[in-house]
Amino acid sequence: MENQKFSIEDISSEDINYFENLGIHQKLKHKFIEIYLDIWAKNVGYNSKRPLATVDFFDLYAASGWAYDQHTEDTWAGSALLAAKAFGEYPKGRLLLLNSYDQDSVKCQKQIEILRRSILNLENYPHVIEKTKIISSEIHKATDIALGELNRNFPSLWILDPYHPDQLPWEIVEKISSTVGDPYENRATGQIAQKKPELIINLMTSILQRNMDRKPELFSSAIGMSEEKWRPIYKKYERKYIEQGNEKCTRHVILDMYADRLSKLYNKEPIIALVNAAEGGVVYTMLLVTDNDAGYHMMRKKMDEWHNYKVYKWKSEAEVSVFKKHNPDQSDLKQWF
Ligand SMILES: C[S@@+](CC[C@H](N)C(=O)[O-])C[C@H]1O[C@@H](n2cnc3c(N)ncnc32)[C@H](O)[C@@H]1O
Repeated sequence: MENQKFSIEDISSEDINYFENLGIHQKLKHKFIEIYLDIWAKNVGYNSKRPLATVDFFDLYAASGWAYDQHTEDTWAGSALLAAKAFGEYPKGRLLLLNSYDQDSVKCQKQIEILRRSILNLENYPHVIEKTKIISSEIHKATDIALGELNRNFPSLWILDPYHPDQLPWEIVEKISSTVGDPYENRATGQIAQKKPELIINLMTSILQRNMDRKPELFSSAIGMSEEKWRPIYKKYERKYIEQGNEKCTRHVILDMYADRLSKLYNKEPIIALVNAAEGGVVYTMLLVTDNDAGYHMMRKKMDEWHNYKVYKWKSEAEVSVFKKHNPDQSDLKQWF
């Protein structure tokens, strides 16, 4: 947490039981989120000749705001506190809405309490406090509440980071992304445009991979199509990979299909990063979907700068970057933080 100006003094060892208990690789997930939030806080909003736009940030799976690795005893900011920091740095933040929900009511209350306390303790960003709303609802209700608060004619960034694919059904992604602003003329291009929420999605690809045959309904829910509809498309994509000599292609096919769905909702293809587990293998996939030209190009550039990741082409434009070719360990991570 160095350099982040968060106050952790009030955090007790009991509180740590309610932090996200993660492996060190999960830092890479937070790094992906942080990179884009940072671009937002420092660049995106400043690229227009017009007065700075307000921004709304939403984190619909906020948990306690903290993450913890029991092996290294390292503690770091989760998505909600990263969002709070970026929101605090951006001069015209309008709303920071955090949804912290857990089925276990004791855990839920405790996480909300830690989150609230952590926001109140943001040393350098006191104005964040008055602009933050913390809610606690299951994702369907939380989405409706959040959309009711959204200023849809101005930019917004949504972080969707569930544990499990069935906690983020496609209908949620579609509902958020189709809540657009009134049409306006983009002065740079002369074209009619509409503001559209920008999304950072954590797709739990490893769970989906394991369950394509055992529990196909998981993928149906994540991609918003019946198995009858997606299975033939899946087979078609799979054939393409097998013909190229890539037999183990389940993850590629899942990603291609998910990215296809997203790119139909946005003018740009998603930027995708795979995150490896410490013990090897990709655990989950981070996706950024946005129509925002400045944000999109800066994020691609940033990803390019982030060294030795593997890139493969998805369609003509999109790229998939593996954060680390090797299993991330502490020494590997040093160059990141
Ligand atoms: C992966 S954790 C979020 C971690 C957090 N984004 C971070 O970076 O620290 C997922 C959170 O979503 C919550 N959750 C699970 N199912 C949910 C649902 N149906 N609706 C809303 N939240 C849910 C979990 O209790 C957990 O707090």
